[in-house]
Amino acid sequence: MSVPQSALRREQPSWLLDPFDRTDPLRKFSWWQRGIVYQVYPRSFQDSNGDGIGDLDGIRLRLDELVKLGVDAVWVSPIYPSPMADFGYDVTDYTNVHPLFGDLAAFDRLVDAIHQRGLRVILDYVPNHTSDQHPWFIESRSSRDNPKRDWYIWRDPKPDGTPPSNWISEFGGSAWSFDEATGQYYYHAFLKQQPDLNWRNPDVREAMFGVLRFWLDRGVDGFRVDAIHHLIEDTELRDNPVDPDWKPGQSPARRHARIFNLDREEVHACIAAMRAITDSYPGERMLIGEASLPIKQLMAYYGVNAPGFHLPFNFHLIKSRWDPQVIAQLIEEYESHLSPEQWPNWVLGNHDRPRVASRVGPEQARIAAMLLLTLRGTPTIYQGEEIGMADVPIPPERVQDPWEKNVPGLGLGRDPERTPMQWDTSAKAGFTTGEPWLPLSADHARRNVAVQMHDPHSMYSLYRELIALRRREPTLSVGAHVKAGTQGPVLTYQRYHSERWITVALNFSGEMQQIEPGRLDTRRILLSTHLDRTGEDVTSLLTLRPHEGVVLGPQF
Ligand code: NOJ
Repeated sequence: MSVPQSALRREQPSWLLDPFDRTDPLRKFSWWQRGIVYQVYPRSFQDSNGDGIGDLDGIRLRLDELVKLGVDAVWVSPIYPSPMADFGYDVTDYTNVHPLFGDLAAFDRLVDAIHQRGLRVILDYVPNHTSDQHPWFIESRSSRDNPKRDWYIWRDPKPDGTPPSNWISEFGGSAWSFDEATGQYYYHAFLKQQPDLNWRNPDVREAMFGVLRFWLDRGVDGFRVDAIHHLIEDTELRDNPVDPDWKPGQSPARRHARIFNLDREEVHACIAAMRAITDSYPGERMLIGEASLPIKQLMAYYGVNAPGFHLPFNFHLIKSRWDPQVIAQLIEEYESHLSPEQWPNWVLGNHDRPRVASRVGPEQARIAAMLLLTLRGTPTIYQGEEIGMADVPIPPERVQDPWEKNVPGLGLGRDPERTPMQWDTSAKAGFTTGEPWLPLSADHARRNVAVQMHDPHSMYSLYRELIALRRREPTLSVGAHVKAGTQGPVLTYQRYHSERWITVALNFSGEMQQIEPGRLDTRRILLSTHLDRTGEDVTSLLTLRPHEGVVLGPQF
């Protein structure tokens, strides 16, 4: 049921074409280069049936909101059948939909509705592990000689009965769990309910490639590939050395330098095979890779010997200290590693990390938004960032995330950034008519899309303006990046395309700053984070108010 690309733009209401024309003439850049990705965490986006959990019909009902915001692609986190030990990242059937979210017909309706609006859909693909309830694992654990035994990673205990290696699970504790019935350990990079598939087994590879084809045939435009750097482990199961930089309070898995069970070279051949499948479909399908790695290591995920991911997620804005010099260095380091064929990308947050508004504060979150949407590279917005949602404290009795349950109190739990989307002023913020699965933020009556949409100075208005500007200005969407630097606490950089320059200046401080604005041909303020200076010309020094960022462009 592949969707012809000619169908993607059919029947668009006329207001969708204004103010942005998605059929712009920049044909040599793909949609995933020019465009903006929006991450939907389905449980928390929109509930359509009152059970307190978001679903596929809910996403469909909110699509016009995403069109108004101006994004291009919707990445939908897992919707597969799952016991929900890790909220859908523990899959029991890769080619179906969990009844909580709907069914395949609801999925098809969603894909159609997304394409009718000229948007794209990116699905989460979880190749590293299944659920322990997946029929493959149930078979695999049933006996040592079951044909599916080798689909997972089973090993004998050490002579003293302890696990085969010292590898630690991402969620705490040994990454090996013992199966009494068959007397062996199985490996799980995450929860013990998430056994790792053995990607060295050709049948596993074929089965998992079939999953890609299933969804590509159903019309998805790409995948966000989960935990890809975990896909392959050392065959000799060598112990990881201790990382001397690890400090108590950090994630337990980082106690080791994970050289033997993470980022192994053979992963690149697997990614290349996924890419070959994606490329065999018409219509610019694409792959985003999730690998939280240092920049140098991340670069290999664009492909080694053969094309890899179109976009290996760059999480470094999430991980870096919020300091203009650190961010300038980060941008330069990243840019310096990219070859001309490698397209950058930036992310401020996701369903696994504390929200940006909590990390940097509400005022600097506006600076972060301007940074995200003016840097070279595809931006991904995590739902709720556009209204400045912050982490929500979760009372102990409402904790859902297994990570928090396994290693409580370290601040690793992910529920605070997964609370329901705040749409309007109604009792449950327009998210549900029932009891939301996680508490709503206390500020939902004030901080929501409906209220902010009518406030010309709101975070939502800032996101809309930034997105509109990025679409209007090819210099921002596809232009070159020209050196990031600092003047005191102000981060500056420039963008360039077809003889048109843009300067960005971001005040990371709570004090007024005056800086030298540089180029004479970027003296008109196109946008301020305070949304009140558009059109102002800078004649000498550029004055920035506390926490203010501006985009400067030519006076024509
Ligand atoms: C990364 C996902 O984003 C996260 O939510 C999940 O727990 C792990 N991978 C395991 O699938």
